[in-house]
Formats: sequence, structure tokens, C-alpha cells
Amino acid sequence: MNSYITQSEQETINLGAEFAKTKLKAGDVVALFGDLGSGKTRFVQGICKGFGITEHVASPSFTIVNEYNTGSLIIYHFDFYRVKSIDEIVDIGFDDYINADGICVIEWAERVTGLLGSRFEVHFSLGDAENIREIKIVQLNT
Ligand SMILES: Nc1ncnc2c1ncn2[C@@H]1O[C@H](COP(=O)(O)OP(=O)(O)OP(=O)(O)O)[C@@H](O)[C@H]1O
Ligand SMILES: [Mg+2]
Repeated sequence: MNSYITQSEQETINLGAEFAKTKLKAGDVVALFGDLGSGKTRFVQGICKGFGITEHVASPSFTIVNEYNTGSLIIYHFDFYRVKSIDEIVDIGFDDYINADGICVIEWAERVTGLLGSRFEVHFSLGDAENIREIKIVQLNT
């Protein structure tokens, strides 16, 4: 496990970009855990930046997934904060996304851990001061 402290949103974005460049490849799943405002979306912005995406990255709010095409692969950005039941997730064909060749990045992944296989988990927590975040990254192979 790797543990990091970031002191600004930019540092979290940079960490996501570095993680993407050094660790991620087609087919990977990244499950994000942590409270509201803990930095999950900033980290996803960094992942996309690491793959050269220049368009604005925000959580899908009216759809369940946003797609970013890097040219060589697609990044699927899920946010399950608002889902009420696992059926909604199964119904969008979530299984097909995670078994495909894109990269799946999932906010509020605790709602779907039972559906996930091998993955990176990124755990975010608030630090003692306003702009401090603790970020732990672990690779799980199932
Ligand atoms: N070190 C930091 N890393 C990331 N964000 C930070 C940091 N310090 C302050 N912030 C602020 O915290 C907020 C993080 O927002 P973000 O949308 O990334 O959280 P989130 O975990 O995705 O929340 P949600 O569960 O609502 O989707 C932003 O307003 C950002 O400016
Ligand atoms: Mg978010």
C-alpha cells in the first residue's frame, strides 16, 4: 500500500495524473472510497489529465457514467452516490464495462464492491487542516 498526504487540490490532481501514467493500463478498474468532498473527483481529473484528456472532467450527475476517449482507450467515470439499489447498476450493464478494455474509475465504490474483481482501491480521508487529504492506494488481485 502507498500512502500520501496532499495539501491542495492541485496536489491531488497531480497525484492522480502520476498514478495514471505509472500504473494504469487498459482493462484496469479503480475504486474510489471516501466522504463527500474528500477529493475523489479531483483525483479522477488527474487520472484523465495523465492520459492527456483536455476536456473538463466532472462527476456524471444525470447520467451514471461519463466517457473520455484518450485515443487509445476509453476512461469510464462512474459515480454511484445517488444510486438507490444495486439493480440500477446491474441494469446499465456495469459488468460489461468492467470486463471491457477501457479503464473504469468509480466514485462511491462501496456500493459495488461485491461486483468488482481485481482493482486498485484509493481511499481518501480528510486531514486535520482544511486542505489536507490522506490518500491510500492499494492494488487488490482477486
Ligand atoms: N488536498 C486536497 N485534495 C483534493 N481536494 C481538496 C484538497 N484540499 C481542498 N480540497 C477541496 O475539496 C474538494 C474536493 O472535491 P471533490 O469533488 O474532489 O470531492 P469528492 O470526494 O469527489 O466529493 P463527492 O463525494 O461529493 O463527489 C474541492 O472543493 C477541493 O477544492
Ligand atoms: Mg466526486
